[in-house]
Amino acid sequence: MHSSEVEHIVYPDDCDAFGHLNQAAFLRIFERARWDIMARGPGMDVFERTGAWPAVRKTVIDYLAPAFPGDRLRVQHSVVHLGFTSFTMRQTARRAPDDTLIATAEFVFVCIDRQGRPIPVPAEVGEFFQARPSGETVESIAVNGVQLSVEQRGAGTGPPVLFVHGFPLDRTIWEHQLDNLTGFHCIAPDLRGMGSSEAPDLGYSMSTYAEDLVGILDSLGLSRVVLCGLSMGGYIAFEFLRRWRERVLGLILMDTRAEADSAEGKKAREGLIARVREQGPIAAAEAMLPRFFTAQVSPEIIERVRTSIMRAPVAGLVGALTAMRERPDSTALLPTLTGIPTLVMAGAEDMITPPSLAQSMATLIPGARLMEIPAAGHLPCVEQPVATTRAMLKFLQGIRS
Ligand code: MLT
Repeated sequence: MHSSEVEHIVYPDDCDAFGHLNQAAFLRIFERARWDIMARGPGMDVFERTGAWPAVRKTVIDYLAPAFPGDRLRVQHSVVHLGFTSFTMRQTARRAPDDTLIATAEFVFVCIDRQGRPIPVPAEVGEFFQARPSGETVESIAVNGVQLSVEQRGAGTGPPVLFVHGFPLDRTIWEHQLDNLTGFHCIAPDLRGMGSSEAPDLGYSMSTYAEDLVGILDSLGLSRVVLCGLSMGGYIAFEFLRRWRERVLGLILMDTRAEADSAEGKKAREGLIARVREQGPIAAAEAMLPRFFTAQVSPEIIERVRTSIMRAPVAGLVGALTAMRERPDSTALLPTLTGIPTLVMAGAEDMITPPSLAQSMATLIPGARLMEIPAAGHLPCVEQPVATTRAMLKFLQGIRS
């Protein structure tokens, strides 16, 4: 992923009558930053030269904090999806020097010719942005009427492992595992409504998420996978197992639970749905971040996860909360999972799905192994990536042999 930075000073004429950096000015600031980046790379005239004009098809901006005349903003960008005719750029504006996140934005561009027909993204632009770790591909796959972003590593090298993230996150929580589980075909989608996948207004349920996963596997030509789900990803894995257990080669359940929401839990979902509708992703960040990690976690990790939550579209967050509220109890499924090698993992200090839940699941699933990751909360793959990847590798090697 290519990343770079441009500085912008807030001028009085960027501001509204109250002296705040005006919401409309962000479009100009982000646009100027993009041109600066192009000037540093293939040149500002690259689109003129190649006859492919990048038309903005969709813009989503989250305004998070005010800025004032004289503030220095650091505008960062990364291309999070590079397709054949389209690309998606994510930009963030932070105030220097205190690093406050002021706004995040995502722009989807489609390259068009002079007649307005979509044409390929110019190779020079593609090359400039395609500075990705070798072997990584992120593609947009059309499944059940939505475009889902799916990252893959090591295709063809070994058994496929499908990573399913939790709420309100995206596939980036698996970064360390994807980078280090060499010898396995790692597949990590952004679920519908999360990360850079499309976020339809309606149509969220554990069934739909599971159908999306099967659609991804079908489109990649994969019949069986090791299924690895974290928290909400585990709820989806249970639904997948109910319907397609013959496609599950092995199972990793990480910091999840088999039980449905209690009456109190459902009420809490309702409260968060209302706050997310009113305030946007910041409500989800405020609800989840304080409970995700141990007290020892580094501020950089919190910031990284916060940034990914702040990118989540409201429709996707509300959809996921509704789907979790409606999910069935999966406890009765566990004793039926005979013959599926299973690893149940939990951060030893997880306060959302405490290790006692992992212990009960491991007791109920025939032959399941249990692994607690010390000094980790709800996201051991992020907070203790080395220990988590090592435990997963040992389990996956057992499946391969
Ligand atoms: C998750 O990490 O996916 C959530 O904590 C799940 C939940 O809220 O039940």
